[in-house]
Amino acid sequence: MRPRVFVSRQIPAAGLQLLENEVDCDVWDQPLPPPRETLIQRSTGCAGVLTLLSDLIDAEFFDAVGADLRVVSNFAVGYNNIDVQAAAARGIAVGNTPGVLTDATADIAVALILAAARRLREGIDNVCKHEWLTWEPTGFIGQDLSGKTLGIVGMGRIGAAVARRMRGGWGMRLLYTSRQPKPEIDAELKSEKVEFAQLLAQSDVVSIHTDMNPDTKHLFNEAAFKAMKSTAVLVNTARGGIVDQAALEIALRQRQIFAAGLDVTDPEPLARESNLRELSNCVILPHIGSATVASRDAMATIAARNLLAGINGLPLPHAVTA
Ligand code: DGY
Repeated sequence: MRPRVFVSRQIPAAGLQLLENEVDCDVWDQPLPPPRETLIQRSTGCAGVLTLLSDLIDAEFFDAVGADLRVVSNFAVGYNNIDVQAAAARGIAVGNTPGVLTDATADIAVALILAAARRLREGIDNVCKHEWLTWEPTGFIGQDLSGKTLGIVGMGRIGAAVARRMRGGWGMRLLYTSRQPKPEIDAELKSEKVEFAQLLAQSDVVSIHTDMNPDTKHLFNEAAFKAMKSTAVLVNTARGGIVDQAALEIALRQRQIFAAGLDVTDPEPLARESNLRELSNCVILPHIGSATVASRDAMATIAARNLLAGINGLPLPHAVTA
């Protein structure tokens, strides 16, 4: 009998085909994530599950689905939705999809930097609402980027790709925070590792690329916004929970910072009652950083290969360790 797997959403055919060649796939074909009870019920007795960042995979899930589960393959590079320690304690492998969404996500970060700094949302609204009356010498004045300072919070693959783009295209000076020094990137881009406080005080643009963990939750809070320049732009393409959205709303309303561009929010989708969407200096996208043909095909392929390796008791091509 072929092993059974649950795939918690339609994924690109590039990955699904690989799975269907070897295992029996139960694919959740609805546009919204499966409810918790359904996720558990459909995963019960499966050898593997292919999950999305919207699926909470915790100890309770592992205990509920039973001992057949050998692998959880996340269709994402981030895996903050998975309790990796609880998986390891039960001998369940966990995989992710690093490296293949770096450029796509860096491009969206650059798009948000430009959109927020140059007030694109206000400009587009102005045209769409038939409010464009004339060319205005003092209208829609935004922030310059050339030669200014970019602060990268988390100089991993995506952070470095954004730094490379903004250094090469706009000649920006680069500051960053990171757990480890990055001498090769420093040599290539003349970047400088600094303390968080210095990055906040000196950056004209701050772009978030760190992972979400207890240390980074609400790293951007009231104190952080107060420490930033009033002309600064904040961009987040990492995880919504890194930014305290209530504090961000105040900072944007009171012009403690100039503007924000968010590809991620907490929760996702953005809560109906969130006032962030009303603010003209806040550009929000529906978490589309990796949404290109090549990136999503590659993510599907890696996720499928991780799943198959785990089911066959082999090392995952891209394993996450506790
Ligand atoms: C990831 O992979 O973690 C992104 O947030 C979604 O592509």
